[in-house]
Amino acid sequence: MRLFIKTKEKKYPIYFGENNCFKIKKILIQNKINPKKLMVIYDKNIPKKIVSKFKTRIKKDENIILEFNFNEKIKNLNTVKKILDILGKNNFNRNDCLISMGGGIAGDICAFAASIYKRGIKFVNIPTTLLSQVDSSIGGKTGVNNFLGKNMIGTFCQPNLVIADIVFLRSLPKREMICGYAEILKHALISDKKFFIFLKNNYKDILNLKSNTIKRAIFRSCKIKKAIVEKDERESNLRKTLNYGHTFAHAFESTLKYTNKLNHGEAVLLGILTASKFSNKERLLAKNEFSLIENHIKELKYNNLKNYFNKNSINKISNFMIKDKKNYGKSINLVLLRKIAKPVLNNTYSQIKVKKFLSSLID
Ligand SMILES: NC(=O)c1ccc[n+]([C@@H]2O[C@H](COP(=O)([O-])OP(=O)(O)OC[C@H]3O[C@@H](n4cnc5c(N)ncnc54)[C@H](O)[C@@H]3O)[C@@H](O)[C@H]2O)c1
Repeated sequence: MRLFIKTKEKKYPIYFGENNCFKIKKILIQNKINPKKLMVIYDKNIPKKIVSKFKTRIKKDENIILEFNFNEKIKNLNTVKKILDILGKNNFNRNDCLISMGGGIAGDICAFAASIYKRGIKFVNIPTTLLSQVDSSIGGKTGVNNFLGKNMIGTFCQPNLVIADIVFLRSLPKREMICGYAEILKHALISDKKFFIFLKNNYKDILNLKSNTIKRAIFRSCKIKKAIVEKDERESNLRKTLNYGHTFAHAFESTLKYTNKLNHGEAVLLGILTASKFSNKERLLAKNEFSLIENHIKELKYNNLKNYFNKNSINKISNFMIKDKKNYGKSINLVLLRKIAKPVLNNTYSQIKVKKFLSSLID
């Protein structure tokens, strides 16, 4: 199954299914990508069995296959330079191709390197986490972190193709599945109530990787992101709805200093719940719809801010919210819900108001 993303810059396919990454050669030819050389960079936590099988499919002397230990600490310009140097030393040219096989970190770094090396070489993304399959591999945001924060250096650059293969998800830790699920849930809440109900009824099968259900959830989720990105590639308006729950989530993660206590997806679930509660408090989201969301997040067991924060955290959380890179002034800008599938942009609130609200949840 394929889905085409059509932006001003490029039209490219996402391939869905199981074991299709092993058809890499055929897929490259199908898409008129005929590189003399390939460089594949893969995440070290991908099962060796998959990597070995993939290697046999692209065996050729000129090809380079490298393992990286990807994590947020190496998501920086040094790693990009390393990749650029290897491409340069091996005389890669614009027709050659870089393939990332890994989660969102691998994809963001490699896509950035591919977008700036000789002003852009061919780039294929093989996302191997649920989050990267439903979210980060679609839409062309590339980048790395620097001293200012996460993803501060980057480009908008669409890949030449994406292969989202569920074979990779079978080795993914449960917590990483939750990360991806949080983004799927967000997609449903901002644009498709029927899909939200489907998720409520099938979340266990999704998290347990029941083949048809997970495939359906991934495909629907990608379709939602595709529709948004195609209308607003550069995030001038509609694409901002993808930040639903994220202003709270980023502040939660930052307050806990990005420790293992709360990973990104878990913070997103808490952020979605908090933004939904705020929407309800502001008399936007009706009580019955809020309860549907709240009950679902309770089922997932990420519903209690008090498990992570106390009243001393409120200042820190609201300070991080002010500094969010999507804020321009001294007030806090939030995406809220007026109904499930009806997000509202540009709701601005004072720090005092947000602090008061957070106190009602944590204090
Ligand atoms: N570009 C975008 O639009 C966009 C959108 C959302 C998030 N992001 C970025 O994505 C990153 C998060 O991505 P992520 O959640 O995929 O994290 P990640 O890349 O760190 O992967 C999560 C963990 O899973 C492991 N892993 C990867 N594939 C595996 C497999 N098949 N089996 C077992 N383990 C495997 C990794 O080694 C890592 O430990 C963040 O840096 C975030 O900024 C980018």
